[in-house]
Amino acid sequence: MSVLVTGGGGYIGSHMVWHLTDAGEEVVVLDDFSSGFEWAVAPEARIVNGDCGDQALVARLIAEQGIEAIVHFAGSLLVGESVAKPLAYYLNNTVKSRSLIETAVTSGVKHFVFSSTAAVYGTPESFPVSEDAPLRPESPYGRSKLMTEMMLADASAAHGLRYAALRYFNVAGADPRGRTGESTRDSTHLVKIACETALGKRPGMAIFGDDYPTPDGTCIRDYIHVADLAAAHGDALRHLRAGGDSIIANCGYGRGFSVREVIDTVKRVSGRDFPVSVGPRRPGDPSAIVASPALIMDRLGWRPKYDNLDGIVESALRWEEALSRRNHL
Ligand code: UFG
Repeated sequence: MSVLVTGGGGYIGSHMVWHLTDAGEEVVVLDDFSSGFEWAVAPEARIVNGDCGDQALVARLIAEQGIEAIVHFAGSLLVGESVAKPLAYYLNNTVKSRSLIETAVTSGVKHFVFSSTAAVYGTPESFPVSEDAPLRPESPYGRSKLMTEMMLADASAAHGLRYAALRYFNVAGADPRGRTGESTRDSTHLVKIACETALGKRPGMAIFGDDYPTPDGTCIRDYIHVADLAAAHGDALRHLRAGGDSIIANCGYGRGFSVREVIDTVKRVSGRDFPVSVGPRRPGDPSAIVASPALIMDRLGWRPKYDNLDGIVESALRWEEALSRRNHL
Protein backbone atom coordinates (compact mmCIF):
# COMPACT_ATOMS: atom_id res chain seq x y z
CA MET A 1 0.00 0.00 0.00
CA SER A 2 1.32 3.41 -0.80
CA VAL A 3 0.55 7.11 -0.62
CA LEU A 4 0.24 9.33 -3.68
CA VAL A 5 1.65 12.81 -3.06
CA THR A 6 0.72 15.31 -5.77
CA GLY A 7 3.07 18.27 -5.92
CA GLY A 8 5.68 16.25 -4.03
CA GLY A 9 8.51 18.20 -5.65
CA GLY A 10 7.26 21.49 -4.24
CA TYR A 11 8.07 23.28 -1.03
CA ILE A 12 5.58 21.71 1.37
CA GLY A 13 5.12 18.55 -0.68
CA SER A 14 8.84 17.69 -0.55
CA HIS A 15 8.81 18.01 3.26
CA MET A 16 5.79 15.71 3.39
CA VAL A 17 7.54 13.11 1.24
CA TRP A 18 10.50 13.09 3.64
CA HIS A 19 8.11 12.87 6.57
CA LEU A 20 6.43 9.81 5.02
CA THR A 21 9.60 8.03 3.88
CA ASP A 22 11.20 8.66 7.29
CA ALA A 23 8.22 6.77 8.73
CA GLY A 24 8.82 3.87 6.31
CA GLU A 25 5.85 4.61 4.04
CA GLU A 26 5.89 3.83 0.33
CA VAL A 27 5.40 7.03 -1.60
CA VAL A 28 4.59 7.88 -5.22
CA VAL A 29 5.13 11.52 -6.18
CA LEU A 30 3.07 12.95 -9.04
CA ASP A 31 4.33 16.36 -10.11
CA ASP A 32 4.56 18.21 -13.42
CA PHE A 33 7.67 19.99 -12.07
CA SER A 34 6.41 23.32 -13.35
CA SER A 35 7.59 24.81 -10.08
CA GLY A 36 8.87 21.85 -8.04
CA PHE A 37 12.16 19.98 -8.40
CA GLU A 38 12.98 16.32 -8.86
CA TRP A 39 16.09 16.70 -6.73
CA ALA A 40 13.91 17.86 -3.81
CA VAL A 41 12.13 14.49 -3.69
CA ALA A 42 13.39 11.92 -1.16
CA PRO A 43 15.26 9.19 -3.07
CA GLU A 44 13.05 6.42 -1.64
CA ALA A 45 9.97 7.86 -3.37
CA ARG A 46 8.93 6.89 -6.88
CA ILE A 47 8.65 9.94 -9.16
CA VAL A 48 6.05 10.27 -11.92
CA ASN A 49 6.18 13.37 -14.10
CA GLY A 50 2.59 14.24 -14.98
CA ASP A 51 -0.59 16.16 -14.29
CA CYS A 52 -2.79 15.42 -11.28
CA GLY A 53 -5.82 16.24 -13.47
CA ASP A 54 -4.92 13.44 -15.92
CA GLN A 55 -7.50 10.88 -14.86
CA ALA A 56 -6.16 7.97 -16.95
CA LEU A 57 -2.67 8.44 -15.52
CA VAL A 58 -3.87 8.78 -11.91
CA ALA A 59 -6.22 5.77 -12.20
CA ARG A 60 -3.35 3.68 -13.56
CA LEU A 61 -1.03 4.76 -10.74
CA ILE A 62 -3.66 3.97 -8.12
CA ALA A 63 -4.16 0.47 -9.53
CA GLU A 64 -0.51 -0.34 -10.23
CA GLN A 65 0.98 1.12 -7.06
CA GLY A 66 -1.71 0.02 -4.61
CA ILE A 67 -2.44 3.60 -3.56
CA GLU A 68 -4.77 3.88 -0.56
CA ALA A 69 -4.35 7.56 0.28
CA ILE A 70 -3.80 10.77 -1.65
CA VAL A 71 -2.12 13.84 -0.22
CA HIS A 72 -2.86 16.65 -2.65
CA PHE A 73 -0.47 19.62 -2.72
CA ALA A 74 -0.27 20.33 -6.45
CA GLY A 75 -1.61 23.76 -7.32
CA SER A 76 -0.87 27.45 -7.59
CA LEU A 77 -0.36 29.37 -4.39
CA LEU A 78 0.24 33.07 -4.75
CA VAL A 79 -2.50 35.41 -3.57
CA GLY A 80 -1.31 38.38 -5.66
CA GLU A 81 -0.83 36.33 -8.83
CA SER A 82 -4.31 34.87 -8.46
CA VAL A 83 -5.81 38.37 -8.62
CA ALA A 84 -4.09 38.90 -11.99
CA LYS A 85 -4.70 35.37 -13.35
CA PRO A 86 -7.93 34.10 -11.78
CA LEU A 87 -8.86 31.62 -14.51
CA ALA A 88 -5.47 29.94 -14.30
CA TYR A 89 -6.06 29.49 -10.55
CA TYR A 90 -9.55 28.05 -11.03
CA LEU A 91 -8.13 25.59 -13.57
CA ASN A 92 -5.09 24.54 -11.59
CA ASN A 93 -6.63 24.50 -8.14
CA THR A 94 -10.32 23.82 -8.63
CA VAL A 95 -10.83 22.03 -11.95
CA LYS A 96 -7.85 19.69 -11.55
CA SER A 97 -8.80 18.95 -7.95
CA ARG A 98 -12.26 17.98 -9.16
CA SER A 99 -10.69 15.51 -11.59
CA LEU A 100 -8.42 14.10 -8.91
CA ILE A 101 -11.25 13.70 -6.40
CA GLU A 102 -13.36 11.95 -9.02
CA THR A 103 -10.51 9.56 -9.83
CA ALA A 104 -10.06 8.86 -6.12
CA VAL A 105 -13.76 8.02 -5.84
CA THR A 106 -13.96 5.85 -8.97
CA SER A 107 -10.71 4.04 -8.09
CA GLY A 108 -11.76 3.31 -4.52
CA VAL A 109 -9.21 5.47 -2.68
CA LYS A 110 -10.68 6.10 0.76
CA HIS A 111 -8.39 8.75 2.29
CA PHE A 112 -7.68 12.21 0.93
CA VAL A 113 -5.61 14.96 2.57
CA PHE A 114 -5.99 18.35 0.94
CA SER A 115 -3.80 21.42 1.25
CA SER A 116 -6.22 24.24 1.90
CA THR A 117 -5.45 27.69 3.17
CA ALA A 118 -6.20 30.37 5.72
CA ALA A 119 -7.06 32.53 2.71
CA VAL A 120 -10.56 30.94 2.82
CA TYR A 121 -11.32 33.23 5.79
CA GLY A 122 -10.34 36.53 4.19
CA THR A 123 -9.95 39.10 6.97
CA PRO A 124 -11.57 37.52 10.02
CA GLU A 125 -13.65 39.59 12.41
CA SER A 126 -11.88 38.30 15.51
CA PHE A 127 -8.73 36.48 16.57
CA PRO A 128 -7.68 33.79 16.81
CA VAL A 129 -9.77 32.42 13.94
CA SER A 130 -11.43 29.05 14.39
CA GLU A 131 -12.75 26.75 11.67
CA ASP A 132 -16.37 27.86 12.11
CA ALA A 133 -15.53 31.51 11.32
CA PRO A 134 -17.27 32.98 8.26
CA LEU A 135 -15.65 31.96 4.96
CA ARG A 136 -15.07 35.11 2.95
CA PRO A 137 -12.00 34.64 0.75
CA GLU A 138 -10.71 37.90 -0.69
CA SER A 139 -8.75 36.46 -3.60
CA PRO A 140 -9.34 34.00 -6.44
CA TYR A 141 -6.68 31.86 -4.73
CA GLY A 142 -8.75 31.58 -1.56
CA ARG A 143 -11.94 30.96 -3.54
CA SER A 144 -10.27 28.30 -5.71
CA LYS A 145 -9.30 26.39 -2.55
CA LEU A 146 -12.63 26.88 -0.83
CA MET A 147 -14.43 25.40 -3.83
CA THR A 148 -12.25 22.30 -3.51
CA GLU A 149 -13.19 22.03 0.17
CA MET A 150 -16.86 22.16 -0.89
CA MET A 151 -16.36 19.45 -3.50
CA LEU A 152 -14.65 17.24 -0.92
CA ALA A 153 -17.52 17.68 1.52
CA ASP A 154 -20.10 16.77 -1.13
CA ALA A 155 -18.08 13.85 -2.53
CA SER A 156 -17.54 12.58 0.99
CA ALA A 157 -21.27 12.68 1.77
CA ALA A 158 -22.19 10.98 -1.51
CA HIS A 159 -19.36 8.49 -1.97
CA GLY A 160 -17.83 7.78 1.43
CA LEU A 161 -14.42 9.31 0.68
CA ARG A 162 -12.98 10.53 4.00
CA TYR A 163 -10.80 13.61 3.89
CA ALA A 164 -8.81 16.12 5.88
CA ALA A 165 -8.66 19.69 4.58
CA LEU A 166 -5.81 21.48 6.34
CA ARG A 167 -6.00 25.26 6.27
CA TYR A 168 -2.40 26.44 6.30
CA PHE A 169 -1.48 29.77 7.76
CA ASN A 170 1.93 31.16 6.75
CA VAL A 171 4.30 28.29 6.14
CA ALA A 172 8.00 29.06 6.54
CA GLY A 173 11.34 27.49 7.44
CA ALA A 174 13.02 24.37 6.11
CA ASP A 175 13.67 20.73 6.99
CA PRO A 176 15.56 20.69 10.32
CA ARG A 177 17.92 18.10 8.78
CA GLY A 178 18.61 20.40 5.82
CA ARG A 179 17.34 17.98 3.14
CA THR A 180 14.82 20.31 1.51
CA GLY A 181 13.39 23.80 1.84
CA GLU A 182 11.64 26.48 -0.17
CA SER A 183 13.46 26.50 -3.51
CA THR A 184 10.86 28.26 -5.64
CA ARG A 185 12.36 30.82 -7.97
CA ASP A 186 10.91 34.30 -7.56
CA SER A 187 9.09 33.38 -4.36
CA THR A 188 6.91 36.12 -2.91
CA HIS A 189 6.93 34.75 0.64
CA LEU A 190 8.10 37.17 3.29
CA VAL A 191 10.51 34.94 5.27
CA LYS A 192 12.22 33.70 2.11
CA ILE A 193 12.53 37.18 0.62
CA ALA A 194 13.96 38.58 3.84
CA CYS A 195 16.46 35.69 4.05
CA GLU A 196 17.48 36.16 0.40
CA THR A 197 18.03 39.86 1.09
CA ALA A 198 20.06 39.13 4.23
CA LEU A 199 22.31 36.86 2.18
CA GLY A 200 22.81 39.50 -0.53
CA LYS A 201 20.75 37.71 -3.20
CA ARG A 202 18.56 40.82 -3.41
CA PRO A 203 19.74 44.40 -3.01
CA GLY A 204 16.83 45.26 -0.69
CA MET A 205 13.19 44.53 -0.02
CA ALA A 206 9.92 46.36 0.47
CA ILE A 207 7.22 46.26 3.10
CA PHE A 208 3.88 46.12 1.31
CA GLY A 209 2.01 48.80 3.20
CA ASP A 210 2.53 50.20 6.70
CA ASP A 211 -0.88 51.84 7.10
CA TYR A 212 -2.86 48.79 8.20
CA PRO A 213 -4.89 48.90 11.43
CA THR A 214 -2.25 46.92 13.38
CA PRO A 215 0.13 48.07 16.16
CA ASP A 216 3.05 48.88 13.83
CA GLY A 217 0.93 49.38 10.69
CA THR A 218 2.20 46.25 8.91
CA CYS A 219 0.26 43.01 8.29
CA ILE A 220 0.16 40.30 10.93
CA ARG A 221 0.48 36.60 10.09
CA ASP A 222 0.80 33.29 11.96
CA TYR A 223 4.07 31.70 10.75
CA ILE A 224 4.19 27.90 11.06
CA HIS A 225 7.34 25.79 10.61
CA VAL A 226 7.01 23.56 7.56
CA ALA A 227 8.17 20.51 9.57
CA ASP A 228 5.26 20.96 12.00
CA LEU A 229 2.94 21.28 9.02
CA ALA A 230 4.21 18.03 7.48
CA ALA A 231 3.67 16.34 10.85
CA ALA A 232 0.09 17.64 10.86
CA HIS A 233 -0.50 15.85 7.54
CA GLY A 234 0.94 12.68 9.05
CA ASP A 235 -1.45 13.03 11.99
CA ALA A 236 -4.37 13.58 9.59
CA LEU A 237 -3.48 10.47 7.62
CA ARG A 238 -3.26 8.39 10.80
CA HIS A 239 -6.64 9.72 11.90
CA LEU A 240 -8.32 8.81 8.58
CA ARG A 241 -6.71 5.38 8.42
CA ALA A 242 -7.95 4.65 11.95
CA GLY A 243 -11.50 5.30 10.71
CA GLY A 244 -11.74 8.89 11.92
CA ASP A 245 -14.31 11.27 10.46
CA SER A 246 -13.46 13.84 7.83
CA ILE A 247 -11.96 16.98 9.34
CA ILE A 248 -11.28 20.57 8.35
CA ALA A 249 -8.56 22.05 10.54
CA ASN A 250 -6.38 25.11 10.85
CA CYS A 251 -2.62 24.71 10.84
CA GLY A 252 -0.98 27.56 12.70
CA TYR A 253 0.40 28.28 16.17
CA GLY A 254 -2.10 30.82 17.43
CA ARG A 255 0.20 33.85 17.60
CA GLY A 256 0.99 36.51 15.06
CA PHE A 257 4.03 38.51 13.98
CA SER A 258 3.99 41.70 11.95
CA VAL A 259 5.98 42.11 8.74
CA ARG A 260 8.36 44.44 10.60
CA GLU A 261 8.85 41.91 13.40
CA VAL A 262 9.72 39.19 10.88
CA ILE A 263 12.22 41.43 9.08
CA ASP A 264 13.81 42.46 12.40
CA THR A 265 14.10 38.78 13.36
CA VAL A 266 15.84 37.95 10.07
CA LYS A 267 18.26 40.84 10.60
CA ARG A 268 19.02 39.76 14.17
CA VAL A 269 19.34 36.01 13.50
CA SER A 270 21.47 36.50 10.35
CA GLY A 271 23.52 39.27 11.92
CA ARG A 272 23.11 41.28 8.69
CA ASP A 273 21.43 44.61 8.16
CA PHE A 274 19.81 45.29 4.77
CA PRO A 275 17.78 48.04 3.07
CA VAL A 276 14.02 47.91 3.63
CA SER A 277 11.67 50.39 1.95
CA VAL A 278 7.95 50.90 2.43
CA GLY A 279 5.84 50.38 -0.70
CA PRO A 280 2.11 50.34 -1.45
CA ARG A 281 -0.26 47.65 -0.20
CA ARG A 282 -0.38 44.40 -2.19
CA PRO A 283 -3.85 43.61 -3.61
CA GLY A 284 -5.64 40.74 -1.85
CA ASP A 285 -3.68 41.01 1.46
CA PRO A 286 -5.81 40.84 4.64
CA SER A 287 -4.46 43.04 7.44
CA ALA A 288 -4.12 40.32 10.09
CA ILE A 289 -4.81 36.63 10.44
CA VAL A 290 -3.92 34.29 13.31
CA ALA A 291 -5.07 30.68 13.76
CA SER A 292 -6.76 28.95 16.58
CA PRO A 293 -5.02 25.54 16.54
CA ALA A 294 -7.36 24.12 19.23
CA LEU A 295 -9.23 21.77 16.91
CA ILE A 296 -6.23 20.07 15.30
CA MET A 297 -4.59 19.66 18.71
CA ASP A 298 -7.73 18.19 20.18
CA ARG A 299 -8.92 15.97 17.33
CA LEU A 300 -5.61 14.88 15.79
CA GLY A 301 -3.35 15.20 18.83
CA TRP A 302 -1.03 17.49 16.83
CA ARG A 303 1.77 18.96 18.96
CA PRO A 304 4.08 21.51 17.32
CA LYS A 305 7.81 21.04 17.91
CA TYR A 306 9.20 24.13 16.22
CA ASP A 307 6.97 26.99 17.41
CA ASN A 308 9.72 29.58 17.50
CA LEU A 309 10.24 32.40 14.97
CA ASP A 310 14.01 32.52 15.53
CA GLY A 311 14.23 28.80 14.78
CA ILE A 312 12.04 29.13 11.68
CA VAL A 313 14.27 31.92 10.38
CA GLU A 314 17.48 30.01 11.26
CA SER A 315 16.37 26.98 9.24
CA ALA A 316 15.26 29.19 6.34
CA LEU A 317 18.64 30.97 6.32
CA ARG A 318 20.51 27.64 6.39
CA TRP A 319 18.47 26.41 3.43
CA GLU A 320 19.04 29.63 1.50
CA GLU A 321 22.80 29.15 1.95
CA ALA A 322 22.52 25.54 0.79
CA LEU A 323 20.60 26.70 -2.30
CA SER A 324 23.37 29.18 -3.14
CA ARG A 325 25.94 26.38 -2.97
CA ARG A 326 23.73 24.12 -5.13
CA ASN A 327 23.15 26.80 -7.77
CA HIS A 328 26.86 27.57 -8.03
CA LEU A 329 27.71 23.92 -8.71
N1 UFG B 1 5.25 41.01 2.44
C1 UFG B 1 5.97 42.18 2.36
N2 UFG B 1 7.05 42.22 1.51
C2 UFG B 1 7.42 41.16 0.76
C3 UFG B 1 6.68 39.96 0.86
C4 UFG B 1 5.60 39.93 1.70
O1 UFG B 1 5.66 43.18 3.01
O2 UFG B 1 8.40 41.27 -0.01
C5 UFG B 1 4.11 40.95 3.36
C6 UFG B 1 2.79 40.69 2.66
O3 UFG B 1 2.22 41.88 2.19
C7 UFG B 1 2.00 40.05 3.79
C8 UFG B 1 3.06 39.29 4.59
O4 UFG B 1 4.30 39.87 4.22
O5 UFG B 1 1.45 41.03 4.59
C9 UFG B 1 3.09 37.81 4.28
O6 UFG B 1 3.13 37.67 2.88
P1 UFG B 1 3.45 36.28 2.17
O7 UFG B 1 3.47 36.53 0.70
O8 UFG B 1 4.65 35.66 2.78
O9 UFG B 1 2.22 35.37 2.58
P2 UFG B 1 0.65 35.62 2.42
O10 UFG B 1 0.13 35.96 3.78
O11 UFG B 1 0.32 36.53 1.31
O12 UFG B 1 0.14 34.22 1.92
C10 UFG B 1 0.54 33.03 2.54
C11 UFG B 1 0.52 31.93 1.50
C12 UFG B 1 -0.88 31.67 1.05
C13 UFG B 1 -1.80 31.49 2.23
C14 UFG B 1 -1.68 32.63 3.20
C15 UFG B 1 -2.51 32.38 4.41
O13 UFG B 1 1.30 32.28 0.36
O14 UFG B 1 -0.88 30.52 0.25
O15 UFG B 1 -0.32 32.76 3.58
O16 UFG B 1 -2.41 33.44 5.33
F1 UFG B 1 -3.06 31.42 1.81
